[in-house]
Amino acid sequence: MDDLVIGIDLGTTNSCVSLYTEGKTKILENAFDGRITPSFIYFSPDGEIVIGEHGVKMSVHKPENGIYEMKRLVGRQFDDPELQKSLKYFPFKVTASPSNLPLVSVKQKSAICKKSPQELYTVLLKALKKYTEAKLEETINKAVITVPAYFNVAQKEVTLEAAKDAGFTVLKLLNEPTAAALVYYFENDTDKTHRSLVYDLGGGTFDVAVLEKRFENIQVLCVAGDTQLGGHDIDTCLLNYVYRILRTQYGYDPEASSDDKRRLRLKCEDAKKELSTVESTVITINGMVSKHPKIKISLTKDEFEAMTDHLFKKTIDILDECLRSSKISKRSIQEIILCGGSTRIPKIQKLVSDYFDGKQLNKFVNTSECVAEGAALQAAMLSTNRKQKIDELRIVNVLPLSIGTWGHSLCHDMSFLIKRGTKLPTSVTHVFVNTETDETTFTFDIYEGERLDLRKNRYLGTVLLTDVESAAPFQKK
Ligand SMILES: Nc1ncnc2c1ncn2[C@@H]1O[C@H](COP(=O)(O)OP(=O)(O)OP(=O)(O)O)[C@@H](O)[C@H]1O
Ligand SMILES: [Mg+2]
Repeated sequence: MDDLVIGIDLGTTNSCVSLYTEGKTKILENAFDGRITPSFIYFSPDGEIVIGEHGVKMSVHKPENGIYEMKRLVGRQFDDPELQKSLKYFPFKVTASPSNLPLVSVKQKSAICKKSPQELYTVLLKALKKYTEAKLEETINKAVITVPAYFNVAQKEVTLEAAKDAGFTVLKLLNEPTAAALVYYFENDTDKTHRSLVYDLGGGTFDVAVLEKRFENIQVLCVAGDTQLGGHDIDTCLLNYVYRILRTQYGYDPEASSDDKRRLRLKCEDAKKELSTVESTVITINGMVSKHPKIKISLTKDEFEAMTDHLFKKTIDILDECLRSSKISKRSIQEIILCGGSTRIPKIQKLVSDYFDGKQLNKFVNTSECVAEGAALQAAMLSTNRKQKIDELRIVNVLPLSIGTWGHSLCHDMSFLIKRGTKLPTSVTHVFVNTETDETTFTFDIYEGERLDLRKNRYLGTVLLTDVESAAPFQKK
């Protein structure tokens, strides 16, 4: 029988694997019966590699060898300001490769080894593959993997290469909000044209997408987001508050120790989660400051919301700009789907609902699993295995970031060839004029991004045109 195809949600904080067979999706647990696996890799000093929850626990003794949030490093240059911001808070060391890519250093068997984000992704994906194969008792080589809708070409390429190195043939990289919408439309079948908005705030990324379903077609109308905005940044606000108190009230600098940095981040994350259900909490810090063996920092929900308000508002601004630039009215949206662990924060739910004039939100029962389930549905649609027979929905996507080239060889203006939001696939015709040479080859660079100064956009590659008709005969006339 043909291979089964699985769906993988490769998250900043958590990863999840799902399979659609015999008419339903199920989550495939890891070797420790966990439905989600923390995207965490611990390199033990004696050479062992431990993934997930166990890795998190073991790294307590050696936090600089516990690697997480690789998704924040993927496809970025070392000197990318966004990447530099994240580095400040990691307990592990990251250095630049000769080609300016980030390399994570870990110490195993007294030797320092350096791992690229792609290699780290491969380690994680190999572990997920192993768990899945053990669960299903068969070899699994094919997958659909989800990525943020706002991932750029470089970030997608690294994901694909890492999956290939882990032994997967990736049938599709599916956008995370589209995956969530797929689950919604499978559960809520309708023949009428229906518009939904997905607001996905996870551990490290924020995505918003508007989708329209008409019969068997799902058209993505617009996407926007920020690949450096998520639960991590909310935790960082709390962490900075705790750092400030430790410095000013206890004369202690926790940033000097990677152990303290990791411990305090985990405490802040716990406090944040608690404040989603209670009005106040206490962060207890034992044995960190010698003169003060037990420090208690109390925090109310109001204080937490004031500290993080700018981040929550940023997501609403992105959402607003996404609708405005695509000329989609709020009222035309029939369903608002929340997914991602950070949407458990009541203030976020309130802001989104208020933006839509008090409209009721659709919260997935398990917001941490819906993206993997959507990936599994897409996987089944691409599978030829008869156990994975499923009604097909055709998804039409849009370009998340504009593509362009230089407008004039003497200046650095970007000439936009394909605007973001264009329905895919698409084609474009562009006339290049070059009368200064009699050469029969011609090169031009391709960039991705929205900035008018092309040097501030992301360079994708150079196209070489050969057999170009020479301009020389025209010049001689
Ligand atoms: N009850 C809660 N209240 C607030 N935040 C929560 C709660 N539960 C989980 N989170 C946060 O949700 C985030 C993880 O969510 P999720 O698993 O959806 O992220 P992810 O899919 O790994 O990340 P991304 O999609 O951004 O790559 C973490 O930052 C976590 O702290
Ligand atoms: Mg996610």
